[in-house]
Amino acid sequence: MESHVLIEKAEGVLTLTLNRPEKKNALTQAMYQRLGDAIDGAANDPEARCVLIQAEGDAFTAGNDIGDFAARGAEGRSTGDKQKWEGNPLLAALARAKRPLVAAVHGRAVGVGVTMLLHCDLVYMAEDALLSTPFVNLGLVPEAASSLTLPARIGHARAFAMFVLGEAVTAQEAVAWGIANKALPRAELRTTALAAARAVAQRSPSAVAITKALMREPEQLAKRMEVEGAHFVAQLSTPEAAAAFAAFADKRRGMRGS
Ligand code: COA
Repeated sequence: MESHVLIEKAEGVLTLTLNRPEKKNALTQAMYQRLGDAIDGAANDPEARCVLIQAEGDAFTAGNDIGDFAARGAEGRSTGDKQKWEGNPLLAALARAKRPLVAAVHGRAVGVGVTMLLHCDLVYMAEDALLSTPFVNLGLVPEAASSLTLPARIGHARAFAMFVLGEAVTAQEAVAWGIANKALPRAELRTTALAAARAVAQRSPSAVAITKALMREPEQLAKRMEVEGAHFVAQLSTPEAAAAFAAFADKRRGMRGS
């Protein structure tokens, strides 16, 4: 089976390509693990001086796999046990990443597909990119430390509208609000992002590492992820979340006529 995350290394750049296009690159546990391991591994790899994240298909990612959310929520309701936040290997790796992260985003980016961008150091977007974090519409709450990073980046009012009203943000808005560096024609996205990643990889590794470290607070991010995570897993078992996951599944069944 072809992997849902392709990994390639060349000219100092480790490229991670989301490759589950038939499911809009919805992220599974295996994908989180592979992405997290690759980002962690880059820290001590002299040939991976910069990490580029991009995606196949017509969407960057539809966020966490909703089937996985639904299963986790059902488990919580059936056992009655309080679900524990066990961490997420991608989020942990993003918080402690030593190497610069560059993202090339096109099409829909939903949920963690947006919140992961707030851990990236350079973000390029195709003009068709559309970002949304509809956590509250799903009965859920922000994750990936985005309750901290998103308002810090774009201001409380805009962040609240994204989290609570599920308002989508265009590539142009993302640039204007400081989420992304540039909005580009789709055909130029990958070459521009790769050129930027290569340029980063050619700079002094120690100066780059120190600059990134000075600009970030890994411990604070990890701590916030833990607090958010505890709320998040508890919310997965709520009736509101169950109804939202069932509505997504019903819509899909309706479209397939089954
Ligand atoms: N989890 C699991 N499967 C997903 C998914 C997700 N988050 N997002 C999309 N898919 C699957 C669909 O079930 C469908 O598979 P199927 O044909 O086997 O049923 C396939 O991907 C295509 O999705 P579709 O909805 O037809 O694509 P679209 O172009 O019409 O819409 C989105 C794209 C991203 C807008 C839409 O799929 C969507 O809203 N997804 C859910 C996003 C979400 O709420 N994520 C959680 C955030 S916390």
